[in-house]
Order: sequence, then structure tokens, then C-alpha cells
Amino acid sequence: MRKQQILNKEIESFDFQSGGEASSNLKNILRKLGVSAQIVRKTAIVTYELEMNVVIHSLGGEITALISEDELEIRVDDDGPGIADLDKAFTAGYSTASDEIREMGFGAGMGLVNVKRYADQIDVKSSLGEGTHVKVIIKLSS
Ligand SMILES: Nc1ncnc2c1ncn2[C@@H]1O[C@H](COP(=O)(O)OP(=O)(O)OP(=O)(O)O)[C@@H](O)[C@H]1O
Ligand SMILES: [Mg+2]
Repeated sequence: MRKQQILNKEIESFDFQSGGEASSNLKNILRKLGVSAQIVRKTAIVTYELEMNVVIHSLGGEITALISEDELEIRVDDDGPGIADLDKAFTAGYSTASDEIREMGFGAGMGLVNVKRYADQIDVKSSLGEGTHVKVIIKLSS
């Protein structure tokens, strides 16, 4: 099944100015493609959380979105430092965010929990020093 790339964007570490742009861009692209509001909303939540995790927790990375007739594929890849314990990272309320970040309103430890909740499929590869690679599938027909 052929997939078409509809977004590829760099995400800079600690860039709170542009942080959120990729998910917002993708939202507009999906709307233009006629994707249903419900799917657009789900996708926006997933991409925003993953994008902000790259801004907050990583050295920087990129997001890529592909679409086919029946699904969306979102890939978020960063250059490290990676996640030591994935089970912990997916636990509600777990966060390593600093006080400074918490003051900005992040760090509830709910991002990945929500990504998992809204994704139809999720695959995370990460280890310390290796960077984090997330692949999410969102079905278009649900
Ligand atoms: N791309 C990443 N690189 C390194 N560590 C990450 C990355 N994404 C998540 N983590 C780790 O997993 C933890 C949980 O992530 P999650 O998104 O659930 O919560 P949070 O970002 O800390 O807070 P919230 O998303 O609620 O603002 C983070 O605190 C961080 O330790
Ligand atoms: Mg987060």
C-alpha cells in the first residue's frame, strides 16, 4: 500500500517558539485533505505531545507524517539522550521535567500516556545514548 509523505519538519531542542508548529501544520494539511475532525483531533494530540517531548527532553530531531488510503503514519525521531526505562516513561504521572519546565506548564507525565491512548498502533525504540524513535499509526477509518 503506497504512502505519501505529507510532512517532514525539524524539531529544535528547547525551541518553545516553534514548538508545536509541526502538529499545527499537520492539522491544517489533514483538514485540507478532507480527513475527519475526529481523526484530525487525535492526530494533533499525538503529534503535539511527541513534538514537545523532543523540544523538552531531547537534543533535537524530526517529525515525518505519511498518509495512505487507510492510515496515517507519524514518525518522530530524535538524536538522544534516549529513554532509560520505557515502562516508567509510559506510566501516568512519571516525568523527569525540571522545575523550570514545570513552571511553563509541562511535566505532568501524561504525554506518552495520551499518545498511547489515541494511537491505533505505537512502536517506540529507545535506549540511553541512542535517541528515541517513535512510530505511530492512526487509522483513517474509525
Ligand atoms: N524524546 C524523548 N527523549 C528523552 N526522554 C523522553 C522523551 N520523551 C519522553 N521522555 C521521558 O519520558 C518521560 C515521560 O514523558 P511524558 O511525555 O509522558 O511526560 P512529560 O513530557 O514529562 O510531561 P507532559 O508530557 O505531561 O508535559 C519524560 O519525563 C522523559 O523522562
Ligand atoms: Mg511530554
